[in-house]
Amino acid sequence: MEILENISLKAYNTFGIDVKARHFIEVTSVLQLQKLLQLSAFPTRFVLSGGSNILLTQDLEDLVLYINLKGITVVDEDEASVTLKVMAGENWHKLVLWTLERDYGGLENLSLIPGNTGTAPIQNIGAYGVELKDVFVGCEAMNIQSQELKDFSKEDCQFGYRDSIFKNKAKGKYIISSVRLKLTKRNHKLHTFYGAIENELREMGIVTPKIQDVANAVIAIRQRKLPDPTFLGNSGSFFKNPTVSGKVFESLYKRYPEMPFYKLEENRFKIPAGWLIEQCGFRGKRIGDAGVHQKQALVLVNYGNASGMEILNLAIAIQKAVKAKFGIELYPEVNIIK
Ligand code: EPU
Repeated sequence: MEILENISLKAYNTFGIDVKARHFIEVTSVLQLQKLLQLSAFPTRFVLSGGSNILLTQDLEDLVLYINLKGITVVDEDEASVTLKVMAGENWHKLVLWTLERDYGGLENLSLIPGNTGTAPIQNIGAYGVELKDVFVGCEAMNIQSQELKDFSKEDCQFGYRDSIFKNKAKGKYIISSVRLKLTKRNHKLHTFYGAIENELREMGIVTPKIQDVANAVIAIRQRKLPDPTFLGNSGSFFKNPTVSGKVFESLYKRYPEMPFYKLEENRFKIPAGWLIEQCGFRGKRIGDAGVHQKQALVLVNYGNASGMEILNLAIAIQKAVKAKFGIELYPEVNIIK
């Protein structure tokens, strides 16, 4: 087991923030993970996966465990469905492509989401009307304290909008090692009701879409709107879309009748944070190398050499402006590491 020293994490986080890990090791087996967690020389660790949902603001002194467990296996199968066990270090979009090649349905709307499979449950990744929880069966996670593997069922995970037990009660206590997903082999249930997908398919001239077509539509929309972290550092949506009460919504809607919104149950409304941020004049704004994406104001970007603190300061300025103009609090979706 070779523990490396003073490693730059620039290539390990999609924001491309150049901070250093004092100690760093790549984890390629569950047994190795168990042993590493028992090392008394390193009582505290930082768990790093695809690095697609974190903002690093300073060098890390803890032992960085870069989770790179690989493997996709079929663990259950019948005429209509297949259950996959996917190891945590598998890249999410590569997994989506793997399932599409075999005509397994369920992940097509979640195409091109950056990050690895093991972190997908933490924030219950979602896009275009589908969330991970819709295909999720369970996951295995190692208890950091006892090094025992625990199986979490879908119910155990307590999924919500960009939320799960791993962001709450179980935060910092487990390392997810694998995820089980149940996909369809036939009679795929397509989710094309989301306006942007319907339009895209129409423009592609597709009348009876297959799962591959839905994936292509999602990929086209995402490529148009969202920056590719390979070329422009970012972590996708920086904030969650806020929800407000019916009363707050009514008064806002009177002032801004053009405001987009989604009606939720129980007299609550979700307002797109991207719209709120754009209204405050931040779309396309750039301070040094920290910026707000030109095509989607919910995405903060690193033009090259921004520090984590510069991105964070921009995020704080946005939060203040939205609060002042709309009275709405924005909460980060990205994990800020201070
Ligand atoms: N909008 C603006 N200005 C902007 C951005 C958006 O006016 O700069 C408006 C749009 O015109 C639209 C509305 O806001 O009316 C919603 O925008 P969009 O469809 O782009 O989706 P979103 O609510 O901003 C969410 C997810 C995305 C996901 C898309 C599609 C969150 C925090 N974000 O974005 O997820 O891809 O829906 O389902 O829920 C991510 O989590 O990293 C992510 C990219």
